[in-house]
Amino acid sequence: MPDLRGLLEERLRVAFDRIEPGTDPQVRPSDHADFQANGALALARRLGRNPREVAAEVVASAELDDVCRSVEVSGPGFVNLSVSEEFLSGQLAAVADDDRLGVPCSPEPTTVVVDYSGPNVAKEMHVGHLRSTIIGDGLCRVLEFLGHRTVRENHVGDWGTPFGMLIEHLLDVGEKEAVHELSVGDLDTFYRQARASFDAEESFRERARRRVVLLQSGDEETLRLWHVLVAESVRYFDEVYRQLDVLLTPEDVVGESFYNAMLPGVVEDLQAEGLLVESDGALCVFPEGFVNRHGDPLPLIVQKSDEGFGYAATDLAAIRDRVERIGAGVILYVVGAPQAQHLEMCFSVARMAGWLPLGTEAVHVTFGNVLGGDRKMFKSRSGTTVKLADLLSEGVERADAALAEREPDGGGPGRTEVARAVGIGAVKYADLATDRVRDYVFDWDRMLAFEGDTGPYLQYAHARIRSIFRRSGAAPPPPDTPIVLDQPAERALGLALLGYSEAVELTVDTWSPSRLCTYLFSLATAYTTFYETCPVLQAADPALRDSRLALCSLTARVLAHGLGLLGITAPERM
Ligand code: ARG
Repeated sequence: MPDLRGLLEERLRVAFDRIEPGTDPQVRPSDHADFQANGALALARRLGRNPREVAAEVVASAELDDVCRSVEVSGPGFVNLSVSEEFLSGQLAAVADDDRLGVPCSPEPTTVVVDYSGPNVAKEMHVGHLRSTIIGDGLCRVLEFLGHRTVRENHVGDWGTPFGMLIEHLLDVGEKEAVHELSVGDLDTFYRQARASFDAEESFRERARRRVVLLQSGDEETLRLWHVLVAESVRYFDEVYRQLDVLLTPEDVVGESFYNAMLPGVVEDLQAEGLLVESDGALCVFPEGFVNRHGDPLPLIVQKSDEGFGYAATDLAAIRDRVERIGAGVILYVVGAPQAQHLEMCFSVARMAGWLPLGTEAVHVTFGNVLGGDRKMFKSRSGTTVKLADLLSEGVERADAALAEREPDGGGPGRTEVARAVGIGAVKYADLATDRVRDYVFDWDRMLAFEGDTGPYLQYAHARIRSIFRRSGAAPPPPDTPIVLDQPAERALGLALLGYSEAVELTVDTWSPSRLCTYLFSLATAYTTFYETCPVLQAADPALRDSRLALCSLTARVLAHGLGLLGITAPERM
């Protein structure tokens, strides 16, 4: 079942094609009718014809009788389309009868590897990791719903020279004490102290250097200590993921170290392809089109002059692994904007080496920064990185306070769960609703408001509908309940409900969960207007009451489902 706009577009395309094949009908929602098609204007310009005439020709030849009650040429050559009530009700009944709420599975399911979250061992996760985690998780849920095989990969930073210093620090603190510090999530203190020793003492630096060599040569005891650091950090990350209600599990960790054994092969094969160039003792590839400020070609360093492999080598090995072992058709990198050039260079080199075949897409799903009230990078009051765990707990506490204010004698059973859903949902929604490439200001009051484009507003819209059924004891009407759309607000809500599949599709077309947010907010707004202007339980005519209850019920289902795709829980009551 195509969405309504898509259906009109298909029908009009046939008519446009008769005049000039390949014309985009340009169907958009309209203020003057349900939809308008603007394609005749551009086509007429191209053909040097009168646009109203072209529009009239399209209208005459398009087959729209079963869908529209009126099709009219207006203004300079727009086609205004109003859908017939009968068709709308039929479509709504079909959606109501569909567990997928009218969203078809992808006709071309593929394997999508989603690289997201990617925190670093023995370092606190920061808000950048928060964005990656939330956006990546939303995309995974949508992809899975559309029938794609979705492989989550958490590219944890678990290898490299800092581990020499971290392991030596662990030995200085004592293993037991270190494990405790890490397990309670005091990752930053641990890292800072290791760094401080490294900066202050030459002897510590020497130990750290030797430790790196031991680690790289596979010394057993060193590997054991390294593993302690990794395991404790991963355990802590998992706590944050549980708190955040995301799909990631420890099984999804495919850290940098996973690729170690493949790195020599990366160098050998690049060498064999004749792509490696020695530059200042390092082995590099110079992919075409990447230059620095002075116009000099930029190298992607694959092996450093000290023979160590870098971040880039690991990412190249990861691409190979994702294509060859996992069989990825698409690889998504949900990673902040500062790594754009690094990733593009990796993609480019992987294409040159033949590791990223033409049919496989690698996409950098980039995102902007989280800012504080001062519009600078979001920091705690003391100027350090904000601990995500603390941030999330604060969200839940604030949500609990906001709920208490609304319902002072509330706090009945389930209140803790509701506060959690609202607090976490507010943080997630605020992040997802902003166009991901833009920065946004982290503002508790705005994200927790029950009005406006917020998580709590959508959750509340959903809970309010559920309460109509709970309080009245009315059962949700069966899917084939005839739906009346006489009132403008009923019609607008009906049209909004039929837009779900398009919104889901747009979300993956642009890799932007904000598209789904925009849709859900407009659906909730349409519902609010409907609820304010169309009596539901008080409707005099029982058939009308059933019709309106059916609209309510379908709205609640779409809201809960859509929020679910964003990773946000929709409580039954609030
Ligand atoms: N660990 C990195 C960071 O904290 C993110 C990893 C992103 N993924 C990748 N394949 N490079 O910045």
